[in-house]
Amino acid sequence: MLDVDTGIDDSLALVFLLASPDAEILGIASSAGNVGVQQVAANNLAWLDVCQAPPIEVTVGSPVPLVIPLQTTEDTHGPQGIGYAELPPSSRPLSARSAADMWADLVRANPGEVTGLVTGPLTNLALALRIEPELPHLLHRLVVMGGAFNYAGNTTPTTEWNISVDPEAAKVVFDAFSVVPAERRPIVCALDITERIEMTAEHLKRLGVRAGSMPEERVHEADADNVRSAASNPVVRHLSDAVRFYMMFHRQQGLGHISHMHDPFAAAVALDPSLVQTRPATVDVELVGTLTRGMTVADWMGMWGRDPNADIAWRTDPEAFFDLLIERVGDFAARLYPPEGARL
Ligand code: RIB
Ligand code: CA
Repeated sequence: MLDVDTGIDDSLALVFLLASPDAEILGIASSAGNVGVQQVAANNLAWLDVCQAPPIEVTVGSPVPLVIPLQTTEDTHGPQGIGYAELPPSSRPLSARSAADMWADLVRANPGEVTGLVTGPLTNLALALRIEPELPHLLHRLVVMGGAFNYAGNTTPTTEWNISVDPEAAKVVFDAFSVVPAERRPIVCALDITERIEMTAEHLKRLGVRAGSMPEERVHEADADNVRSAASNPVVRHLSDAVRFYMMFHRQQGLGHISHMHDPFAAAVALDPSLVQTRPATVDVELVGTLTRGMTVADWMGMWGRDPNADIAWRTDPEAFFDLLIERVGDFAARLYPPEGARL
């Protein structure tokens, strides 16, 4: 199951998983983060429509973090969290149960079989642990996009966004998963590795080509803010309009005409952990530091005398990931919306 704060890169993670034949999505938990939780849930439903997905349960999570007020980041992901994309509102129903209840119910019903992927704040998973304390033993594996270890933060100098939104929840989760055996430690995709996953305009162009979309998909850094994709393929068009906003944000941050694809990378790792090399560490979260609150601290050497509770991804091949993403999502988009003249 997924727990997302859909967001632009969460959107690509969701579409990538819907395009992946080796992924069975049991449920999508909506977390407050990039934008408010109701908007996240609406985005999730809308992407399911764009992708002509079968019925998949979408739950609404907590509207606020465990302790502190919610902070959102519309400047990064746009007023609705999907950049410039304008998705038709979905008529799909939201689940009656909460995201935390879905976490607990799914692992109880499928002991040892469910992989949990979290690409937003850890609030709902922390609440699920209160409902089902055995969750770490019932989950097959947890993959988290979050944190920054030997690396600068993107929200404060020392903190990464997903952790920064709800540091208390992050600590609850890392502490709770201290009991699982080594081979099932959570895989953590932190900024150290995800900021090497830089989507470029060329990647978007290749995606359009793979989908048989016309005209050629170009996102120029000189484009005015009101430029939108003219792609014939709706998946390409909406993803391009979403990413265009994200690339503008990264340019404004001085990072160039790119966008960090944190979440789809974590999704790919959830499907195939061999995409990364990992190193074990004991991870804890700073909660009281004046300057460092929300910092994820990794004890690589056992100095705290506590067993490792995380496998931190530290090495990957970014272009191999983009080849996979473009192939899967491009082929998926072409199947959903065949290029003109290709109707059989
Ligand atoms: O720090 C990057 C993470 O924060 C990503 O998951 C992005 O979607 C935001 O949630
Ligand atoms: Ca996210």
